[in-house]
Amino acid sequence: MSSSNICNFIKHFSLLVTLLLLTTVVESSRSPFACDPRNGVTRSLGFCRASLPIHVRARDLIGRLTLQEKIRLLVNNAISVPRLGIQGYEWWSEALHGVSNVGPGTKFGGAFPGATSFPQVITTAASFNQSLWEEIGRVVSDEARAMYNGGVAGLTYWSPNVNIFRDPRWGRGQETPGEDPVMAGKYAASYVRGLQGNGAGNRLKVAACCKHYTAYDLDNWNGNDRYHFNARVSRQDLEDTYDVPFKSCVVEGKGASKVASVMCSYDQVNGKPTCADPAILKITIRGQWKLNGYIVSDCDSVGVLFDNQHYTKTPEEAAAETIKAGLDLDCGPFLAIHTEGAIRKGLLREEDVNLALANTITVQMRLGMFDGEPSAQPFGNLGPRDVCTPAHQQLALEGMPDKE
Ligand SMILES: *[C@@H]1O[C@H](CO)[C@@H](O)[C@H](O)[C@H]1NC(C)=O
Repeated sequence: MSSSNICNFIKHFSLLVTLLLLTTVVESSRSPFACDPRNGVTRSLGFCRASLPIHVRARDLIGRLTLQEKIRLLVNNAISVPRLGIQGYEWWSEALHGVSNVGPGTKFGGAFPGATSFPQVITTAASFNQSLWEEIGRVVSDEARAMYNGGVAGLTYWSPNVNIFRDPRWGRGQETPGEDPVMAGKYAASYVRGLQGNGAGNRLKVAACCKHYTAYDLDNWNGNDRYHFNARVSRQDLEDTYDVPFKSCVVEGKGASKVASVMCSYDQVNGKPTCADPAILKITIRGQWKLNGYIVSDCDSVGVLFDNQHYTKTPEEAAAETIKAGLDLDCGPFLAIHTEGAIRKGLLREEDVNLALANTITVQMRLGMFDGEPSAQPFGNLGPRDVCTPAHQQLALEGMPDKE
């Protein structure tokens, strides 16, 4: 070997070492959520075998959990299960018009000081441009995956808000695409497709959530809060107006582009809290529309239907009625506190809890959270340099009505 060849060899070798070191640095920014390939004990568990169908893996995992562990997985602030190598997970992240730190699942700082902020949805919706909405969703989910890889964000985003905006006194109108059900439905399907992608085998880029189901677009002005409103809605208005964007989220598109979650609201519809109404959750969303995903409560809405609306006599009845109605995940602590009591009192079966968990765990598995190393997965290469890029900022400008 000539000396220049040796030099080249050393140069290439040190480049290789540097690359390996860099890879290690990127990898160690987030340890695997579950099924760490370096952990010989958990790696061989059935639910970690990525070659098995997801429903088989989910059933295997649920079969290994104790009742107490299951109950602590029914809430947004889900516990870790160290004996099975599963980390804690915060389900609540938000991305109505860009990744936001409104929910506890996402934190800005360090390598991720911020994310691209797009104009409010009421503004981008006024473009009537479906490819713009989808493109914004695609960019937002790139930034979300980059932040997840960096250990500062979740993969479950409680966006979009597709309530029908009929009364300007409602304080959240700017979050929505407006008053037209058909347009809101198109916005919903396009943004969800952008966020979730159309990955093979139903694999999700991030999980979107269409909220707040349903007829939730007024507050109780007299009671001075948003927790007591009872929307009186005819079957026809529900079908023709309020439910249209939600149905569009669940049924339009195919595979990965159908929404992975729906959120029930704070209000009552015709005297029933939406999160405790099997007719709209179990029968309509899950039964007729065939939601492939999980149903989550608005934050503290299970507590609200007991504490503020006094809908049931005991907290155990509230826990039992919501889970039996089809609720899978509680944003808030209520189900973690009262579900065991509900089972002890015979109001709920452990099997009902298993069904709820199957819906949440399936979504986590479709996101790749049980496939070990995030950096070895699709979107594993996204990092800080993919957030707030000039191209993303340019797209945010395109969403402005007065860009000219
Ligand atoms: C719609 O949005 C896309 C994506 O940003 C853009 O390329 C296209 O020019 C827009 N169409 C119109 C008519 O503005």
